[in-house]
Amino acid sequence: MACHVRRRPNQPLTRIFGIAVALSLLPTGWVSAQQQLSEAVGQQGMVVSVSPPATRAGLDILKSGGNAVDATIAVEFALAVTWPEAGNIGGGGFMMVHPGGDHRRRRVVCIDYRETAPRKATETMFGPRDGRYTHKIVGVPGTVHGMVTAHKRYGSMKWKRLLEPAIHLARDGFEVDAALARSLNAVLASRSVRRGEHHQELIRVYGKPEGRWKAGDRLVLPDLASTLERIADKKDDGFYEGRIARLIEEEMKRGGGLITRRDLDDYRARVRSAVHGTFRGHDVYGAPPPSSGGTCVVQMLNVLEHFDLRKHPRYSARNLHVMTETMKRAYCDRARHLGDSDFVDIPPHLVSKSYAAGLASRIDLKKATPSEELAPEIQLADESPQTTHFSVVDRRGMAVSNTTTLEGSWGAKIVVRGAGFVLNNEMGDFNWFPGHTDRRGRIGTPANRIRPRKRMLSSQSPTIVARNGHPVLVTGSPGGRTIINTSLQMVLSIVEFGQDLPSAMRAPRIHHQWLPDRLLLETHRGTISDDVVKTLKAMGHTVFTRSRNSYQGDAHSILVDPKTGRLHGVADWRRNGLAAGF
Ligand code: DON
Repeated sequence: MACHVRRRPNQPLTRIFGIAVALSLLPTGWVSAQQQLSEAVGQQGMVVSVSPPATRAGLDILKSGGNAVDATIAVEFALAVTWPEAGNIGGGGFMMVHPGGDHRRRRVVCIDYRETAPRKATETMFGPRDGRYTHKIVGVPGTVHGMVTAHKRYGSMKWKRLLEPAIHLARDGFEVDAALARSLNAVLASRSVRRGEHHQELIRVYGKPEGRWKAGDRLVLPDLASTLERIADKKDDGFYEGRIARLIEEEMKRGGGLITRRDLDDYRARVRSAVHGTFRGHDVYGAPPPSSGGTCVVQMLNVLEHFDLRKHPRYSARNLHVMTETMKRAYCDRARHLGDSDFVDIPPHLVSKSYAAGLASRIDLKKATPSEELAPEIQLADESPQTTHFSVVDRRGMAVSNTTTLEGSWGAKIVVRGAGFVLNNEMGDFNWFPGHTDRRGRIGTPANRIRPRKRMLSSQSPTIVARNGHPVLVTGSPGGRTIINTSLQMVLSIVEFGQDLPSAMRAPRIHHQWLPDRLLLETHRGTISDDVVKTLKAMGHTVFTRSRNSYQGDAHSILVDPKTGRLHGVADWRRNGLAAGF
């Protein structure tokens, strides 16, 4: 039987499952009425995603005997229907696969289904007046080829069966929940959609003729259902060739976009080795370039290994200072070196222990290093977050950590006429202005400049932590550049601070990304005292606290007990979500 439950804040898990899960590490003062966690325990399989119908689609596949990759494919396509602000077939992402202990394939890999720049793209194709909701900003979508690639390598069920839940949801419709209603109303009311001539199809497909969307309404997506049926019948050929390819090309021509049928025909997902690191006796696997996620997470863990964070209170000035200085250095290296490894050489030292030891030794425990001092060679110009993550584990211990995105919420806010799906605005992840790096966080370094067919640098950080060859934590998050730090802190919560998953999910998150040179706290009320903030400021940090209702990430995760194989899934409370297992 599926077991999932929404837990009230502060209600100990012991009352629900009769098992001991300590909440003593829960930071007091941070728990609010909003922090309802959906969590589940199971032994046979677990899915945690932002969207309840998508979680159920994955669970259905696991219960029918599918493995974690089968379930992932079902969730990915279901999210394209039920979480259209980020779930997609018009975008891309990164899928980490740990095959578990007994699969014939033993390597941990990343299926890179990141979008590519069209052939006609050029380094200087964007100017300061270019917006984020145009046809020009759309990258060649990678999701469908990514799913087909994953299926060829790991799939155990028939491809068509994996698309059934998504087709059913799109064809027959599904109940809109409060989070989706909010998202639909927000995109429909946005200025860009109301004013832009290119968003009429989005309004036709997702608009509600009478009034605003509310929880309990039904959303039916017949065009998308037909597109998914084509993909079910013809796999990638159903998307990159024939009718859908023609509709994408026509859509591009209407709005001055660059993608042609040749670009679509050329698109290939890539199977890459995961970035591998170790931390306190655990193996850590992350997404390789063109994502910066794995490299930065491993680099930061290597640095933090030199500081016994657990000997100090989690939110002490000392720990926050050390974490912030570590983040600054990793994000600086990200800007300096990282891009698509098919186009640029990525220095291997970034994830080496000796390089990290050098970085750690240069962290001054008494004062902050100004960001600009870390990269004197990068000329600074004068001053002038939608993605979703889900996690799946099956009964054989195969684990998938999958992050997928359209880049901004609802991507380019353009729906392909007649095909029913939303296009990404991922070209925005390239460095738009060569040579222009500024203190506000705009980066113009060479590694991530636009080239035809190049993949844009990502921060997506789907992460799998393993011990003795078996996955123990599956995590990741949306949130633009904050993603890397959210994944890092999930790993630290579990491995360094020994928290259970609900406490790790509730723990406030911090973020520093080198530039702008500021430390962003999710909150400091209750958890991080005014005195700590004062000390950090005295050390030279510029500290900001996020405003109410502004959160960092949405890290739907699974913890596996290595001794018993018990799976504990927890959906982050920050946006929406459902954990379900059996
Ligand atoms: O790949 C990336 O790093 C970005 N396109 C992700 C964007 C994102 O997470 C926005 N949302 N929350």
